Amino acid sequence: MALKDDILAKLRAQSGEYVSGQSLAQTLGVTRSAVWKAITRLKEEGYVVSSSTNRGYLLCAGPDLLRADEIEYRLLGGGETLDVSCFETLDSTNLEARRRAAEKPLVIVANEQRAGRGRLSRAFYSPAGKGLYMTLYAPLSLPIQSAALATQAAAVAAARAVEKTGGPKLQIKWVNDLFLHGKKAGGILTEAIASMETGGVSALLCGIGLNLTAHEFPDALKNSACSVGPINRNILAANIALELLPLLRALPQAPWMPEYRARSMILSKRVGFTQNGAAFEGAAEAIDDEGRLVVRLSSGERMTLASGEVSVRPAGESEWV
Ligand code: BTN
Repeated sequence: MALKDDILAKLRAQSGEYVSGQSLAQTLGVTRSAVWKAITRLKEEGYVVSSSTNRGYLLCAGPDLLRADEIEYRLLGGGETLDVSCFETLDSTNLEARRRAAEKPLVIVANEQRAGRGRLSRAFYSPAGKGLYMTLYAPLSLPIQSAALATQAAAVAAARAVEKTGGPKLQIKWVNDLFLHGKKAGGILTEAIASMETGGVSALLCGIGLNLTAHEFPDALKNSACSVGPINRNILAANIALELLPLLRALPQAPWMPEYRARSMILSKRVGFTQNGAAFEGAAEAIDDEGRLVVRLSSGERMTLASGEVSVRPAGESEWV
């Protein structure tokens, strides 16, 4: 480990307090000038370190560079030891997680995705430095029917983590979309690895994408997409994993379902959807404990949707989203 990383660890361990250059030099067995040079390197990497002649150094803020050690450090603080890998660019974090499939949970994060994917074979716009693109790979054995609930668990975990990291309150559009003020700010793509032996699931790949600071979107998205706002991505990634892991471990129980419903932007709204080529409209009446959407059609008949996509017209808006 480079000296700057040792110093960073010491500054973090004393978070909120100054650490004297003298004590850093002594504990690490280097000169004070070496400490000073290492602090300069940390500042160049984007760390904000305050220096005081009498008191020493204080770590004030981290950079917005993705750093596996930053994320791992926060995961450890939350009681989870996970392997984290950060990439400048990837095709897709879900694809990378699948390539690395292992015995232990993994977190894969990318600054940019060249082939970010969404549900229903759609692309997910993933420009460099403007969002969080991460996949939590979790080896666990589950019946195939329960895997669908993982998407909803990930939506709840991501919404909770955004708030915990100082961001706004997000709503969820059944099944997997994260919305802010009637526009899509992110989404979840969960994929499962099947076990040939049990016929069930042996691992889940929960892909979470959040637009954070993108203000320009491709034409097809510019009226329907928005950004959550600037949030430190290392802290956000760690918080999402810390929120999501316990929810995945609890499957097939879904004790978070009341929160999923409370964050729903479609319950009691008029929704439209198609099934087998026929178009339907009705009131989104309930989301049951299996995560299925119950719609009451104008005829009074009820339809229960297990997957697919619905359109909704947010209050005061004329457009369906
Ligand atoms: C959707 O909008 O339908 C879901 C979008 C999911 C995007 C995330 S970004 C990280 C992970 N890698 C991908 O290729 N997709 C998911």
